[in-house]
Amino acid sequence: MIGTNKIKTAVFISGTGSNLKALYKFSLKKKSPIKINLVISNYKNAKGLLFSKKKKINTKIFNFNKMILIENKILKELKKRKIKLICLAGFMKILSKNFIKKFKGKIINIHPSLLPKYKGLNTHQRAIHNKDKFSGCTVHFVNQKLDSGKIILQKKVKILKLDTSKSLAKRILKEEHKLFPKAIMKMYS
Ligand code: GAR
Repeated sequence: MIGTNKIKTAVFISGTGSNLKALYKFSLKKKSPIKINLVISNYKNAKGLLFSKKKKINTKIFNFNKMILIENKILKELKKRKIKLICLAGFMKILSKNFIKKFKGKIINIHPSLLPKYKGLNTHQRAIHNKDKFSGCTVHFVNQKLDSGKIILQKKVKILKLDTSKSLAKRILKEEHKLFPKAIMKMYS
């Protein structure tokens, strides 16, 4: 697919942005149905912003403390840029029900667990604490309940005897970088 025909996509981040990097790399491939036109961060020091600026992707930082005001500004920005897909890539804020309604079926999220297990935070810690044999990652549609929308794809990762939440997070993150593009391919195939 050539650039102009691709689905205009916004990526929302809060931190390192390694998933943003993976999505960007994927978006440059001919087979990719998406183009990343906008990066939004709720945190001005998010490391991922260095990447988006380096790649000259339109980048906006919003202070989500004034939620409704900010969301309206974002909706305007999305409309202006004709964004048709939002990828939440390590975005640590919860979007309002109104925002989700306005973008129904067009927001997807990556979560570091095998949903419906371990919604919310500290997923790796909880999986290890419960002595699970596997954890993993999930790409799902965002609905109005936290980490509860329809699952698009999941990848299982074995939990090793000596795993700490850090070592497990690292292995799962590697899989996230493959799963996110795969899920997008699945959505548009
Ligand atoms: C990823 O592991 C992602 O699944 C997780 O944050 C990390 C962000 O890493 N997301 C959540 O926990 C969302 N609730 P990244 O900034 O390097 O992409």
